[in-house]
Amino acid sequence: MLEPLFGVLALFPSADALLKAIPQVKERGFTRLEAYTPYPVHGIDEALDLPKSKLGILVFILASLGAICAFLFEWWTSTVSYPLLTAGKAYNGWQAWVPVMLEGTILVGTFTAALGMLFVFNRLPFFGNPMLRSKAVDEITRDKFALVIRPGDGGLDTSAAIAALRAAGGQAIEVVPAPHYRRAGLAWWAKVTAGIGAACLVAGYGTAWAIRTFPTTKPMVEMENQPRLDAQAPDTFFASGRGMQLPPVGTVPRAFMPVLATNPDQGGKALVDPLPVTARVLERGRQQFDIHCAVCHDKLGTGKPWLDSTYEAQPTDLQSSTIRDASDGYLYWVISKGFASMPAYAADISPNDRWAIIRYVRALERSQDAPARDVK
Ligand code: HEC
Repeated sequence: MLEPLFGVLALFPSADALLKAIPQVKERGFTRLEAYTPYPVHGIDEALDLPKSKLGILVFILASLGAICAFLFEWWTSTVSYPLLTAGKAYNGWQAWVPVMLEGTILVGTFTAALGMLFVFNRLPFFGNPMLRSKAVDEITRDKFALVIRPGDGGLDTSAAIAALRAAGGQAIEVVPAPHYRRAGLAWWAKVTAGIGAACLVAGYGTAWAIRTFPTTKPMVEMENQPRLDAQAPDTFFASGRGMQLPPVGTVPRAFMPVLATNPDQGGKALVDPLPVTARVLERGRQQFDIHCAVCHDKLGTGKPWLDSTYEAQPTDLQSSTIRDASDGYLYWVISKGFASMPAYAADISPNDRWAIIRYVRALERSQDAPARDVK
């Protein structure tokens, strides 16, 4: 029986010679042509009428999917699962997610391009190509350019093909047979998967065993051994002899608003509540008051501490007429700076929350001493 035919091959000395030969061979009625070159040759796709690769479409779709997944992941972690307030920025600040989206796009895009090219369009894995058995393969991978006429539906007139190639300037013409290659089946895949799995297990358990058996040999110690100063460590570089330095004089944290008034009365005149009176502000004030103030001043502000008798200070009754008549700025100063045995809360409560607390204290006062027009 005749061996099945892969095609008739001819070699050309240059890419130009190959490009010139293609239309001549086509003119003689051979349309199923393939070219093999040592490097990509411009214009060969057009010459062979190869359709445009669909890889770009695949990459575009999957890369877009990568961007969308990165966006959804960032959106979910930042706004749903773990909303963390960073410098007062909105949780759903998509601008901060762009780097991750970019990385997601590139990651999925490059993997799709490489793996899609190999496994989807080149249909790997198959082992062996008839061309590898041709005599010309050495030269093709070095400095020669090959054109192969493949059999069409009606087979191939070998002598006509040889003549056509010779007429077009082809050299070292040979007939390449097509031995039967099978594509990888399920058994092959099972073997490969099992092999990779076994290799992973051996590597993983081997590493774990090695680390336990030789605990002093650490795999990577660069971070640990780098030249650096530990916190609180002494250092001779600065005159103070300390490694840690204080911030320059006058440094303030971002958005820090110092209370400049030196006593509560001065504060009472200078400080003005910037917040609107809304249900949200009052609700926030109630929450913050219950957290920070109620333990000493009681939920109603009556000044009966929940602490036992070992707490000897006597918190002020916030319902008293003195506090009721004091201005909002006065209270703000007391919360920010502390007052006699009352501690300062500037470090724990943000300025707006301090004002919200004062709004709520005013509401508490009114709740215990409502004017007649409130109870109509
Ligand atoms: C650790 C207990 C404690 C906490 C918590 C506390 N205070 Fe006080 N507060 C006191 C004591 C004690 C005084 C009385 C100080 C004095 O006159 O010696 C006082 C006094 C005051 C005064 C009156 C100051 C004056 O002019 O007499 C105001 C107003 C006040 N506190 C508001 C608050 C607010 C608002 C909060 C919550 C942010 C708060 N306090 C949290 C213990 C506390």
